[in-house]
Amino acid sequence: MNLHSARARTSLQDRRLAEHVDRLGLEHPPIDLASVDYTVRRPRLFNDRYGHVLDYMARVELEVDRNVLELTTLLPEPPEIDRRFYAEVWQPQEIRHGLILDALQVELGRPPAETDLSSVGVKVRILGALAHLPAFQDVCRMLYYLTGMATERSAVLAYNLLHRGVLDLGERAIARTVIAPIRRQEPGHYAFYQFSARALWDQLAGWQRWMVRRMRTMSFAPVGANNPAQAADFGDVMRALSIGAEPDDFATQISRVEAELLWAHRRGLRVPAYVARALREAVESAEARWAARPPDD
Ligand SMILES: [Fe+2]
Ligand SMILES: [Fe+2]
Repeated sequence: MNLHSARARTSLQDRRLAEHVDRLGLEHPPIDLASVDYTVRRPRLFNDRYGHVLDYMARVELEVDRNVLELTTLLPEPPEIDRRFYAEVWQPQEIRHGLILDALQVELGRPPAETDLSSVGVKVRILGALAHLPAFQDVCRMLYYLTGMATERSAVLAYNLLHRGVLDLGERAIARTVIAPIRRQEPGHYAFYQFSARALWDQLAGWQRWMVRRMRTMSFAPVGANNPAQAADFGDVMRALSIGAEPDDFATQISRVEAELLWAHRRGLRVPAYVARALREAVESAEARWAARPPDD
């Protein structure tokens, strides 16, 4: 492809991405808190089955404030479209998801989510320092898009399963005014990251791609699992949503595009080994924690 057509394609991609962000902003304003009906018919049963799922999701949604801090450390000079997406669309929507889920768990008599909104880890700070080099900033951006894809795809799948489970319990108000409006907003986030990841991957040089593969292999974690206890919590969420029995299926679904982009040279690789391993380990640590609980707990 000559330089001229490569540039034409890039500007078309930029325009489509800008349109996508505009549309998300217009069609998906943050959920109106007054539209939520917190009526729960059988709070004890609901809490037993899904209380901890609400807690996990509320925490992850509310922690987007920390994600934005990490992001601005990681990408000191983000492209304008990325800045607009996270500042004007993504963060306002996600915070509302978190507030609603947290209010629901408090309605059920649970304590509110314990969130970490401000600590930026050493790894991110080192990457951020390196990201002042433009070629390295693109590696960081790629890692950010990959994380965004896996996270948002996990959210889409989890909210679908939660919606079905909540309906099965007969909790119609919660399904209709809490879970359905939240899950409607997640695919647009996924689309943003997928689109950005595909476009950027095309532009990376061989050494940058190599670096992305290495760093991704070393750093992948399930959504919201920043330490071993949170990984076990995620394993519990997977069990409650019936994905604990088939973690490889879930791993395959959240990493489909990542496998296609990063590992295309390994034909037939359905799921990156580090994704499958991390999810299997989350389920195993949840099981180990259950087994270690005192009998009357
Ligand atoms: Fe969300
Ligand atoms: Fe999202």
